[in-house]
Amino acid sequence: MCGIVGYIGRRDVAPLLLEGLQRLEYRGYDSAGIVITGKAAAGKPGALKMVKAKGRVRELEAKVPKRFAGTTGIAHTRWATHGAPSDENAHPHLDAENKVAVVHNGIIDNASELRAKLTADGIVFLSETDTEVLVHLIARAQAETLEEKVREALRHVEGTYGIAVLHADFNDRIVVARNGSPVVLGIGEKEMFVASDVAALVAHTRQVVTLDDGEMATLKADDFRTYTTEGSTTTATPTTVEWEAESYDMGGHDTYMHKEISEQADAVDRVLRGRIDDRFSTVHLGGLNLDAREARGVRRIKILGCGTSYHAGQIGAQLIEELARIPADAEPASEFRYRNPVVDPDTLYVAVSQSGETYDVLAAVQELKRKGARVLGVVNVVGSAIAREADGGTYVHAGPEVCVVSTKCFTNTVVAFALLALHLGRIRDLSVADGKRIIDGLRRLPDQISEILANEDEIKRLAAEYADAKSMMFIGRVRGYPVAREASLKLKEVSYIHAEAYPASELKHGPLALIEPAMPTVAIVPDDDLLEKNRAAMEEIKARSGRILAVAHQVQEKADHTIVVPKNENELDPILMGIPLQLFAYHTALAMGRDIDKPRNLAKSVTVE
Ligand code: M6R
Repeated sequence: MCGIVGYIGRRDVAPLLLEGLQRLEYRGYDSAGIVITGKAAAGKPGALKMVKAKGRVRELEAKVPKRFAGTTGIAHTRWATHGAPSDENAHPHLDAENKVAVVHNGIIDNASELRAKLTADGIVFLSETDTEVLVHLIARAQAETLEEKVREALRHVEGTYGIAVLHADFNDRIVVARNGSPVVLGIGEKEMFVASDVAALVAHTRQVVTLDDGEMATLKADDFRTYTTEGSTTTATPTTVEWEAESYDMGGHDTYMHKEISEQADAVDRVLRGRIDDRFSTVHLGGLNLDAREARGVRRIKILGCGTSYHAGQIGAQLIEELARIPADAEPASEFRYRNPVVDPDTLYVAVSQSGETYDVLAAVQELKRKGARVLGVVNVVGSAIAREADGGTYVHAGPEVCVVSTKCFTNTVVAFALLALHLGRIRDLSVADGKRIIDGLRRLPDQISEILANEDEIKRLAAEYADAKSMMFIGRVRGYPVAREASLKLKEVSYIHAEAYPASELKHGPLALIEPAMPTVAIVPDDDLLEKNRAAMEEIKARSGRILAVAHQVQEKADHTIVVPKNENELDPILMGIPLQLFAYHTALAMGRDIDKPRNLAKSVTVE
């Protein structure tokens, strides 16, 4: 949520920062701003020059004057928390003397209290943001160096932050700090970068240092140093980012969503690669940090995630129960952390997150660890906060996902859960034959995904057919239910059509009252032991003149239309059944002229509560 980018070096900074903001726009896109230090006249500090604009980065770009030269600057793209999207509330924020500039991700919890105190001292606030208090605190700090001023200001602040600070009197440096919101340094040759996300860095350098909570850094053109907010030096060894700059490009597609849906066969191939052990009909997951004896001691598995990752976790829980026979369930991390959960020593907790940054998931992990629980992470972004906080885990290797609407990460996360379930199953009671059956099924997935994607024209035609619906029902049973939930989330977030998901078994307990011709139903109908039950549910809908689009392994007579998907093993079918519905949501939204990659009100990583 919100993106930060900064640069200090010898190059013209404005184009670099604007390009970085474009790369970060998926994190927030209601307003943007840029501040640079102007050239210092002999003996005088260089003044700060700032431009801000409500709207997208392109609106900001249009406002940046031709003569906007400088070699040091910071910039921000915003997702509003305090104060509506506007020029005034856009970051950066400046102090009254235009000497200090701050960009900030996160939330200052005690902002109102600090604001009241500063106002009583005569400070005039120009925005409604929580961030502005930080600027004034830094400007007023009685300290010799910029580092000390920032440190002094942070002592008064409660909440989360990733910040970058420029000061006209200290224009040879950018000072940054992190507490709960990611800050990554990009190490170049005689130039340094900072960003909230490697997406803004990889076009320039793949050598990065990720700050820990409670850490600060000073970036100069030629070097950087890291230290704690208390001032002790920390060691920071740069690591190399795996993802290349090209993987952030659109690659000939019109939207990232389409690109990411299309990449799924390769992405699944990647998550399987090097992990299958045919000799023992199992898989190796190197980073789990859970030996066989410990795995046998697990009595229960609790999976925590939000949104799409939570839905992937629901399928994961079913896979674990089916293959490993360990009781498992998934819960939204955002609920779990507030209900004082019973933390049982025999329970293994699994935190799921594409970004590895979602605040509710991170907070749940931290609470669990504080209580002594063992937590694994199933995460896409390497080195992200949740990956670092967990005791072990597995990466889902989907590659960068830029569209706010998650698609390929959902699929890869479910495959990662299938691997975890198989691994645990083979340590416990899953037979060699069943292990082999699942491995064969996993190997079939990439080709079957390609087969589904080849049916895009037909799915597009069906999307046009249903695009007039004001509301849609999604139903599924057991394995099909989380697929229905995820498909309903996809449709509503990208097309803004109201959609809800119900277990097919619950229809007659209430939601059947909604069924009429104007309320179509998407039914997930796998060819498994519940096929007849699902057919009966469709019958009930048809009897109320409801239209039905089925996703099934064979044409369903009761449905008005069927999207036929290839059959895999029963346990793995949910992985495939969601994919045509990603395309369905995509084409519905496209037909309605929606902003596919940046749906209204949303942002890619929800790093605030
Ligand atoms: O990065 P995470 O997987 O932790 O994100 C969790 C949700 O915010 C995310 O899945 C959200 O629901 C997406 N917009 C779904 O498309």
